[in-house]
Amino acid sequence: MTAPGGPVTGTGGPDTGTPGAPGGSGCTGDCSGTGFFDLLGETYDSYRPPDAARTRQEVDLLAAACARPVGTAVDLMCGQGRHSLELARRGWRVTAVDRVAGLLGLLGERARAQGLGDLVDIVRADAFEFRHTGRADLVALLGNSFGFAADRAACAGLLNALTAATAADGLLAVEVFDPVRRADRHLWSKRFPGGSLTKRRHWDPVGSTEHMRVDLAGTGPTRSTCYRQYTPPAEEFVALAGGAGWRARPAAAWPSNDSTLFLLRREAP
Ligand SMILES: C[S@@+](CC[C@H](N)C(=O)[O-])C[C@H]1O[C@@H](n2cnc3c(N)ncnc32)[C@H](O)[C@@H]1O
Repeated sequence: MTAPGGPVTGTGGPDTGTPGAPGGSGCTGDCSGTGFFDLLGETYDSYRPPDAARTRQEVDLLAAACARPVGTAVDLMCGQGRHSLELARRGWRVTAVDRVAGLLGLLGERARAQGLGDLVDIVRADAFEFRHTGRADLVALLGNSFGFAADRAACAGLLNALTAATAADGLLAVEVFDPVRRADRHLWSKRFPGGSLTKRRHWDPVGSTEHMRVDLAGTGPTRSTCYRQYTPPAEEFVALAGGAGWRARPAAAWPSNDSTLFLLRREAP
């Protein structure tokens, strides 16, 4: 099967990004929210099944970047919680936060099945309204979740709010898409159990924002949505973090090959 404009990968494989003409945004309406995840619902887990080896590799990189003993962590916008489980397996106490109940349900089942239930506290909340009751040693925003704040102002607000969620010497670990490495990718297609999905990217250089038009085909008619993700160049991200009181440095090239892990520490008062 071939999606318009590009190949479709085999079931369970990675998204295939292909060069192509950017074209118009193909906006379906309100793209400022998280309609993509609502549209996918529990099929997100089939679309992007947790890959244990890849998750271990990512948590190895995260641990090396943080270079500190295990403690308390918040996995913000955790999805099905693959990093939460791996961190818990290594002894971290994790608060896992997402707004999609189905994904958190899967995380709960997996945590119990793996004997990690006592180490993973699951919270259903909007990341922009979530107020952590403790002071975490580490807040992780992985899978480019950070970008879903959609624009600079919202991202700055999130970084500001996380000051209250972290210990004085706490760290933020933020995976950020690299706009240079994504510059000539405009079409992603993937088949997975239960459907197939095509994403078309339209780049807004002024706002450093990707606009994604999504078409999801399943058993019924194709459904469409849009979302935006803030995708700043490294220097813009560092400046934004600085404005929110965080000193950010690129800490690791991420296995996805199109994102960077930034580590953020509080600026000295
Ligand atoms: C690309 S996934 C990444 C999941 C996970 N961090 C990982 O790397 O596997 C983004 C996640 O962010 C969640 N999300 C997006 N916007 C959110 C919001 N405003 N509040 C809470 N969760 C949100 C979605 O439900 C989804 O699970």
